[in-house]
Formats: sequence, C-alpha cells, structure tokens
Amino acid sequence: MDPIERMLDAVLADVRPDHSGAVADYIPALAAAEPERLAFAVVGPRGRVTSVGDDEVEFTIQSVSKPFVLAHALERLGRDEVFRHVGVEPSGEPFNAISLELGTGRPANPMVNAGAIATSALAASGSLEERSRTLTDALSRFAGRSLSVDEEVYRGESETGHRNRALAHLLRSHAMIDGDVTTAVEAYFRQCSVRVTVVDLAVMAGTLAFGGRNPLTGERVVREDVARDVVSVMASCGMYDYSGEWLLRVGMPAKSGVSGDLLAIAPSQFGIATFSPRLDRHGNSVRGIRILERLAGEFGMHAFEPHEAIAAPGIRVEHTAEGTLVHLGGELAFSGAERVIGVLRDLAAGKATGDGVILVDARELGRAHPAALEVLRTELADATGAVRLLA
Ligand code: DON
Repeated sequence: MDPIERMLDAVLADVRPDHSGAVADYIPALAAAEPERLAFAVVGPRGRVTSVGDDEVEFTIQSVSKPFVLAHALERLGRDEVFRHVGVEPSGEPFNAISLELGTGRPANPMVNAGAIATSALAASGSLEERSRTLTDALSRFAGRSLSVDEEVYRGESETGHRNRALAHLLRSHAMIDGDVTTAVEAYFRQCSVRVTVVDLAVMAGTLAFGGRNPLTGERVVREDVARDVVSVMASCGMYDYSGEWLLRVGMPAKSGVSGDLLAIAPSQFGIATFSPRLDRHGNSVRGIRILERLAGEFGMHAFEPHEAIAAPGIRVEHTAEGTLVHLGGELAFSGAERVIGVLRDLAAGKATGDGVILVDARELGRAHPAALEVLRTELADATGAVRLLA
C-alpha cells in the first residue's frame, strides 16, 4: 500500500468507532444518509490524489459550495462590488441565523446562509436554469469534472426552505439582492444540491490551496488574489460559531456542510476533504473534525506552524573562470532576500579587487515576491556593478 494512503487509512481507522452526533434530518434525502459512511482524500501540488474509505460515494455539496460561489462572484464582479453586498466578519452565530448588519441589512459573511444567498445572487444572473448552469459550471471547474444537481435533494430543499426564503426576502428588502427573490433562493438551493465525491472536494480545496489553479487539470480557475480572499474568509467564518476554536485547534481554513462533508486547505501543501454524515451541534461533521485535528497535530499542517522554507531560498554558489555565479531556486520571499544579501556580502568581502563579477541568477526561481526582488535590485544597485542580477 502507498505510504500516504497507509497513513490516511490509519487516521480513518482511528475515528471510525466514533458514533456520536446525528445526521441532518430536515429533508428525507439527507435523513436517509448512511451514517457509517466515512471517506478522506488529499490532493498535493502536482495533482496527486490519495483517497481512502467510501471515496466513490456521492453526496450533496451543501454549504461547502459557498466559498466556491464566492470565488466565482469575486472573479466576476471584483472585491468592492461583492463586499458591498456581504461582509467578512464572523457572525458567531449558527449558519441559518438572521445575521444582518443593523441599518444596512448587509449579511455578516458569505459562509452563513444569509450571506451565501446574497453571494449566489451576485455570482449568477438570468433565469433559474441559467443561474443553476452558471453555478454548477463554476463548481465543476473547481472539481475538474462535470458535476450535476441531485433533483431529489433540490426538491426537498425547496419544499422545506422557508427560513432561507425569509432570509432572501429580508435581503431583498435591504437591496442586498436584486430582482426576483424566488429565482435567487431556488438557485441557491440548486447550488447546495450539486453532487460530489470526497475526491471532487479535495480537488476543489486544492484549487484554492494552490492559488486558484486546479491541481488536476492545470486550469487557472480563479485569479490568485481571489483564491486568497476566499481562503481568508474561510479561515475566519467557515466553521460558523465554531470558527474561533477551529482556528486554534486545527488552524486550516475550512468549510463544512450539512451532508457531513468538510473541506480544508493547507496552503501550498494540500487540498483536504472528508465525508462522514453525523454532525455535532454546530452542524459540522464529528469524525471530519477529528480527522482534521489529527492532521493539524501530527502532520504539521496548522497554518501558524513556523515554516523554515519561506525564509530559506535555494542558494547554490558556483565559481567559474568569468566570475562567481549565485543560482537562486525555490521561492524567494521578502524574508529569504535577507539571506541572499548575506551570501552576496560574504562573497564580495572575500573577493580580491578585479576578480570578475558576481552574477545572481534568479531565472530558476519557482516564485519570487516583488518585494524580495526589489530588495535584491536595491542591494545590487549599491554594489556598483560588481554584482549583477539575471532575472
Ligand atoms: O441552506 C441550507 O439550509 C442547506 N441547504 C445548506 C446548509 C448547510 O450545509 C449548513 N452547513 N452546515
């Protein structure tokens, strides 16, 4: 067995005996979910998928759709327009609360239902059919395959969604959504009813974890700044009134849904997803949370763990007949530029006058932050031509 698969399997075996919590029962199709289902998948930066458990079982995406629809809205309309209609503050309230700003009626954030309905109405326009197609297509690009709506779950959502309808009417009364309320709220129900597997969700998470590029298909789905905005909102609001404790214990931007799905992001490392239908009192998957706690604790994925690599770019010094070549590789961050400067100064100090130039080759860098390059350029400009940059 593959070593990564073996480790994921061991985590599953560990949480499997936990039978606490209860499946969502507000519609028959969710109440009928097999509570023992358990699946776990991760996707790495090169699109390698590792999945264990019930990884082929389909379920409806529910609230896990919210960050991706936010991404689509941001890509379509830009930050200002989107955040004029929905805030970015954690509400500290359950997912279906009437979390509207006093006076303006602006919903607290795009992760609670009120904000998600407003976001969905921004992300898609036209008839219900057109909106549903736009939203399903957007989710499909994140997943890297064509997804579809579970019509039975959609009917259930629509038949029972009176609270969401009430929220949508409140939003309309404050002009936080335009046009026909029914179309907007039905499109939101269809968005929640899109069928996915745990692997789809891990790829979707990966697309955000790797800056908006789908690690499976290589397609750029959203801009890097959009992916960063979405991941930031997930970090503060993704787990509803459990978000603060989640950030403390797990430290990964995440989103949960009532079908028992849970998606988390280890930026630049992994897209992660779990599926286990029993929920806790916050509406989050019990075993999903336990799996992610294990990843944070034992696999070093808490976002606030110190990471050495960011401050340590690859530096290889080569002495040639023409002078000294300093090859830079990997990622050059602002903090890493300091290390490069140290090496250059040491080389310059050790060099007899007239010894040829020092050439800094930055062409092989995987990623260079503009501020880091600026530091290097300034340093080299001060070095009066003895050191040159190839960028
Ligand atoms: O809006 C609703 O009621 C559901 N269709 C989705 C809510 C959801 O998944 C909340 N998450 N925990």
